Amino acid sequence: MADLLGLLRAAGDKALSGADLARRLGVSRAAVHKRVEALRAGGHAIVGVNRLGYRLGREAAVWGRALFQPGWGRPFHHFASVGSTQEAAKAGAAAGEKAGALFVADRQTAGRGRLGRSWSSPAGGLWYSLLLRPAIRPDAVPALALAAALDWARLLRARGVAAAVKWPNDVWVEGRKLAGVLTEMSAEPDRVHWAVLGVGVNVNNAPPAKALTPAVSLKGLTGAGWPLPPLLADWMARFRETCRAVEAGGFGAIRAEYARHSALEGAAVSVATPGGEVAGSAEGVDEAGRLLVRAAGGIVALSAGDVRVRVRR
Ligand code: BTN
Repeated sequence: MADLLGLLRAAGDKALSGADLARRLGVSRAAVHKRVEALRAGGHAIVGVNRLGYRLGREAAVWGRALFQPGWGRPFHHFASVGSTQEAAKAGAAAGEKAGALFVADRQTAGRGRLGRSWSSPAGGLWYSLLLRPAIRPDAVPALALAAALDWARLLRARGVAAAVKWPNDVWVEGRKLAGVLTEMSAEPDRVHWAVLGVGVNVNNAPPAKALTPAVSLKGLTGAGWPLPPLLADWMARFRETCRAVEAGGFGAIRAEYARHSALEGAAVSVATPGGEVAGSAEGVDEAGRLLVRAAGGIVALSAGDVRVRVRR
């Protein structure tokens, strides 16, 4: 499958005939047709062009040109519509795809958020999952999700949007949620087989009106549409470096930067944790990426939870 997709990507907007594809893949034309159907069933946008053959849908071709280059983002899987890029990426992980494989969808029909919540993913937003095989301990993987959110805050600030990270891995602008990160992994006690970082960014889509947390999109904030491929290409370039830093030095390598971009410093918060509600003031994040809350009984370090800001400082 990857070969057929690779040929179509390399051809961009140009159509390739069934006979040409069959020859290059060393299979029959009927086998090419079968593979095209299988890819379509998986959500890939492959257009049949009368008498000329097949080409990638326009969006898929644009994505291919932006990201199909050496380094991260390969293999690059584009779906016009898919249940969840997380599931596609996890299937890729199970099939042995390498670190850096990227799964992007124009829309998701069963997008998932943290804590078992659903994630609204209409066309216009940026919905993607990145497959990683980091050489770190499983308990260090959440730091990569914090890093993913941090890089979104950094790249948006570089574009004039006052974005901040809201622990653990949300991106906030003006107190509303713009983006979130979902991490899933397969690991042994001391070794990670794979981790999939799923990122959802409200870009040109209408943000969900009935979300638990008030949500916002880049278009809603700025009044203008944002092309998706350059945004993702920028994040991929940044995250590759940040990921290396975290692999080498743990969360400590980005702790100061995370604190500089935090929406919570000094805020009065209430955190719903698996062990109950913790209220106090947010006092930063420790070397392991845990949120420090000054509560009635002293400082508490939280490794998981849902934060509600009670009063702004
Ligand atoms: C959150 O709850 O804040 C995390 C949201 C993560 C959503 C993204 S969209 C791409 C990937 N596929 C999914 O089904 N979820 C993640």
